[in-house]
Amino acid sequence: MDNEKEYIRSLLPRRSAFLEELRRKSSLTESYAPIVAPDTEQFIVTLLALKKPRRVLEVGTAVGYSSILMADNLPPDSEIITVERYKKHAEIAVDNIFKVGYESRIRVIEGEAAEVLSWLDGDFDFIFLDAAKAQYIEFLPELLRLLNSGGILLSDNVLFHGMTGDDGSVVRRKITIVKRLRMYLEAVTNHPLLTTTLIPIGDGVALSVKK
Ligand SMILES: C[S@@+](CC[C@H](N)C(=O)[O-])C[C@H]1O[C@@H](n2cnc3c(N)ncnc32)[C@H](O)[C@@H]1O
Repeated sequence: MDNEKEYIRSLLPRRSAFLEELRRKSSLTESYAPIVAPDTEQFIVTLLALKKPRRVLEVGTAVGYSSILMADNLPPDSEIITVERYKKHAEIAVDNIFKVGYESRIRVIEGEAAEVLSWLDGDFDFIFLDAAKAQYIEFLPELLRLLNSGGILLSDNVLFHGMTGDDGSVVRRKITIVKRLRMYLEAVTNHPLLTTTLIPIGDGVALSVKK
């Protein structure tokens, strides 16, 4: 299995020098949040090629890696809105976005997603959900409101280091997160407005399409 994962990773394309350096720096800087797994990243790029979204919403910017990745793989007239509650992350993201010249294409909104989502206007074709895992279930109604019919909702880390699907792996301090992630997965897999599949790529993603 590990050999297989390594093989898959060996076939992943290189990213821009800027993104490769940002990934390296993120892995070395404790105060930075973890960024998207490389195989999930390529999955996102493939979904963007398929869907060609005009408006993208990201929940959980961290230092801007995945929003820059998405802008790299979308036409210049597309728009990305990304939400981050931690001021320091939002500031670093804005700085990184400026460095790559994407300040007119990516808008960073600093704030708590539950609050920001409530006043955002809809019409998104693609949503990348990558914030606090225990809050996914709380965000779902607003995400559904914001997503176009035919739009994609990609939720990251839903298998949560193997804990979501295996009681024996759940560490005590993560019990609440795992319970809430399970509620989220129950909701998106049974929701009448969504067609969802769970994919064990990276830390596990839920790929949902709105009917
Ligand atoms: C896993 S990181 C995002 C990584 C980023 N998407 C990437 O791949 O480059 C999660 C980020 O979401 C932010 N976050 C967590 N919960 C949030 C919330 N409720 N509202 C806004 N931001 C949140 C955290 O501060 C953190 O920076």
